[in-house]
Amino acid sequence: MADKQSSGAHILLTGGAGYIGSHVAVVLLEAGYDVTILDNFANSSPVAVERISEIAGRKPHLIRADLSDRDSMEAIAAQIMATGLDGAVHLAGLKAVGESVEQPARYYDQNINSTLNLIEILKICQAPVVVFSSSATVYGELNDSPVAESALTGPTNPYGMTKLFNEQILADQARADGAWKVVNLRYFNPVGAHPSGCIGEDPLGIPNNLFPFVAQVAVGRRKLLKIFGGDYPTGDGTGVRDYIHVMDLAEGHRMALDHALSREEGFVQAINLGSGRGNSVLEVVDAFGEAAGCSIPYEIAPRRSGDVAEIYADASLASDLLGWHPTRVLADMCRDHWAWQSLNPQGYGPAGENGEACT
Ligand code: WQD
Repeated sequence: MADKQSSGAHILLTGGAGYIGSHVAVVLLEAGYDVTILDNFANSSPVAVERISEIAGRKPHLIRADLSDRDSMEAIAAQIMATGLDGAVHLAGLKAVGESVEQPARYYDQNINSTLNLIEILKICQAPVVVFSSSATVYGELNDSPVAESALTGPTNPYGMTKLFNEQILADQARADGAWKVVNLRYFNPVGAHPSGCIGEDPLGIPNNLFPFVAQVAVGRRKLLKIFGGDYPTGDGTGVRDYIHVMDLAEGHRMALDHALSREEGFVQAINLGSGRGNSVLEVVDAFGEAAGCSIPYEIAPRRSGDVAEIYADASLASDLLGWHPTRVLADMCRDHWAWQSLNPQGYGPAGENGEACT
């Protein structure tokens, strides 16, 4: 049932064909929003857009463009002006921590310019509402868990720095113009997939993150999981993280948008989206093996530089402000991530090859 605020509101969803974006698109469409996906498909597939429509029973509009390209900004704004706009959910950007260390200038160029251009587009369209995809990486290694929004920030890599810079850019815009409403959503570790198994995480190349790597071991694409560090000061010696089901995360975006659109006055607010619980790597390996009906072969390898032993969220502000409560647990995350991976062993594949409807 669409909420009052959402029915008919039109939202620009940047990066809407990506992993998080495709799930946000489904949730917004099902909630009655009109959605325009803006994506350059650099790290996503056009097949995902078709699947979004199949799941939601409604089609998003699509603009294929690079948001970081200043020259295309006027054209994008003109295209959107035609239909009117109420706000944006901004996910477009590069997101690999390790890659950002090797290619910092590319990450600053892409991630910062995308946000600066989006602000100009929203000014032209007179739609000063942004829900921004930030990250727990802004907290760095400075805080004990549970980590609240008031904790110290100090990213340890260029990717995390672009997230913090973008939060600051949006906050400064809201301070300069009181009409702006900004919610900076700080994701902990998004995992899982839509229960249909038709959309999910499809990383390019070798997955950097634990869940997609384990899923590819389970489906036979990878031989062995390397567990980075078995000697951390945690229960079983492996790293502890706050895993959050991507559907809970997507619903958090819808609730943040409803909240922003229902407010009269401008504001800026950072909000954690995490479960508030920590799970170790070994707990994930066991739970995923249970879901996939197989044992996940692994070996303990040296620690990965930049990793913290343990981090999980204080998610009380999301509850107090948005009424958001994650409802899916680790077993749900593994079950749904496995459903996606087993139905799509090669991910979306080259456009056209897997274009048929997801069974
Ligand atoms: C989780 C745990 C690893 C891979 C990153 C980004 C963060 C956010 C989420 C975007 C750690 C261990 C992992 C592997 C392993 N992304 N691991 N073997 O590092 O907590 O966060 O993704 O916003 O910005 O930093 O997630 O999944 O990489 O690692 O042992 O092959 O799994 O050491 O303990 P991380 P992750």
